[in-house]
Amino acid sequence: MSTVASPRPSGGVTPTAPARLGFVTRIASVAALGGFMFGYDTAVINGAVTAIRDHFGVGTAATGLTVAAALLGSAVGAWIAGSLADRHGRTRVMQIAALLFAISAVGSAVPFAIWDLGAWRFVGGIAIGIASVIAPTYIAEVAPAAYRGRLASLQQLAIVLGIAISQLVDWGIAAAAGGASEKLGPLYAWQWMLAVAVVPAVLYGALSLRIPESPRHLVAVGRTAEARDVLARVEGGDVDARMAELEQSLRSEHRSSLKDLRGPRGGLLPVVWIGIALSVLQQFVGINVIFYYSSMLWQSVGIEESNSLLISFSTSIINIVGTFVAIALVDRIGRKPLLLIGSIGMTVALGLAAWSFSAATIVNGDPSLPELQGAVALVAANAFVLFFAFSWGPGVWVLLGEIFPNRVRAAALAVAAAAQWIANWVITTAFPSMADWSLSGSYLVFTLFAGLSIIFVARFVTETKGRTLESMEG
Ligand code: GLC
Repeated sequence: MSTVASPRPSGGVTPTAPARLGFVTRIASVAALGGFMFGYDTAVINGAVTAIRDHFGVGTAATGLTVAAALLGSAVGAWIAGSLADRHGRTRVMQIAALLFAISAVGSAVPFAIWDLGAWRFVGGIAIGIASVIAPTYIAEVAPAAYRGRLASLQQLAIVLGIAISQLVDWGIAAAAGGASEKLGPLYAWQWMLAVAVVPAVLYGALSLRIPESPRHLVAVGRTAEARDVLARVEGGDVDARMAELEQSLRSEHRSSLKDLRGPRGGLLPVVWIGIALSVLQQFVGINVIFYYSSMLWQSVGIEESNSLLISFSTSIINIVGTFVAIALVDRIGRKPLLLIGSIGMTVALGLAAWSFSAATIVNGDPSLPELQGAVALVAANAFVLFFAFSWGPGVWVLLGEIFPNRVRAAALAVAAAAQWIANWVITTAFPSMADWSLSGSYLVFTLFAGLSIIFVARFVTETKGRTLESMEG
C-alpha cells in the first residue's frame, strides 16, 4: 500500500502526516474487508454450482434461483443499509453484516434442501448488500480529501481479491477432494467452499469493533466531542474550522430518510439519478458475465474446461493489476478522465468481442470459434476487464461515496447500490438466454451500454478529486 502512504496532496488541502495517513489507511482497510466478503461470496458459487445441482438432483432453473438468491438478497441489504447506518452508526452496521456473513456461511454449508441453501444465500446476500453500502460511506467519511479516491478504491481492491481468492479456494478444495462433488472429511468439497467464508467474516467483525465511528455520523447524532477527536486523528489541521463545516452541512432537526432524497419538484434529487445511472451502467457493460460465466465463454473459444479455470484466474489477476492502476491515478488525474478512458477502451474491446463471437458456429450444442476470432475474443475480453478495472470498477464505488450531500449520503448510496444489485441480477439471469439467442448480439448490447457510458460521463459526471465532501454541497 505504498501508493497510499506517500503524501501527495492536491487541490489546496492540508497535507496529511504519514502517521495519520497510516491510521486512516488501516481503518479504511477494515471497512474494505466487507468488499472482500462481497467478492468472495458472489464468486465462490461458480466452483460449487454444478456439484450443488447434482447433490440435490434439481434442474437448471432451481440452481439458477439459488445463485440469484444472493444477488436479490444484496439488493435488499443495500436498500436497508442506509437507514441502519444512520440509526445505529457505520461501525455497528459493519458488525451486523459480519454476523450475517458468518451465519450464512455456516448455514449454506450444511443445507438440508435446495431451498434451504437458497435461503442462506439470501441471508448472505443481505450482508453483501449492506457491506457494499457501508464501505464507501465509511471510507469517504473518514478519508482526507487528497487521498479519498485511493482509500475508497481499497474497497474495489478487496472485492477483486475476494473474487480471485474464491477461485483459488474452489480450485484447491476441488483438487484436494478429487472434484467438487466428492467428500473431504465430514463435508463435500462444495460445502467447504461455502464454509470457508466464515474465516474472513469473523475477522471483519472482530476488526470492525476496533475502528472509530465516522466523524460525520458522530456530528449527525450530536456526539460532538468524539467527532472532534476522530477528526483530529484522521485529518489534523484546523480541526475547529473543519468541525464548523461539518456541523453546518449536517445541521438538521430530523433524522434523514428516503424522503429526503426528493428534490424540490417532488422527483428524486438529480444527484441520486446520477448515482443510479452510474450503478446500472457499471453492470450493463456485462462485467460480471466474465466473472460468473467465464468457463462457458472460454470453452466457446476452444479452451478446455480444465484450462478455463486458469484463464479465469488470469483474468482476475488482470482485474487486480487494473485496480492498482486506479489506486495510483485516481487522486492525481481524477475520476472523470479515468472513467472516460475506461469507457472508450471498454467500447472498443467489447465491440471486438462482439465481432469475433459473430463467427461462432454451434458444435455439439456449444458455440465454437475459428482460431483467429478465438484469439481476438480472448484478448478483447481481457482488455475489457483491464479497462473496467482501472475505471468503472473502483470509480463507481468511489463516486458513490462522495457525490451525495452529508445528510443523505447513506440513504442515497443505499438506493444507488440497490439499483446496482438489481442490474447485476438482471444481467446475470438474462445472460444464458441472451447467449442462446446470440453471443455476438449480447456483446453488441454490452458495447452499446459502454458507448452510452462515454456520453454519460462527459455530460453528467462532475470531478470530485481533492475537494472536501462539504465543499461539494449546495
Ligand atoms: C465492481 C462491481 C462488481 C464486480 C466487480 C468486478 O465492484 O460492482 O459487480 O463484480 O467490480 O471486478
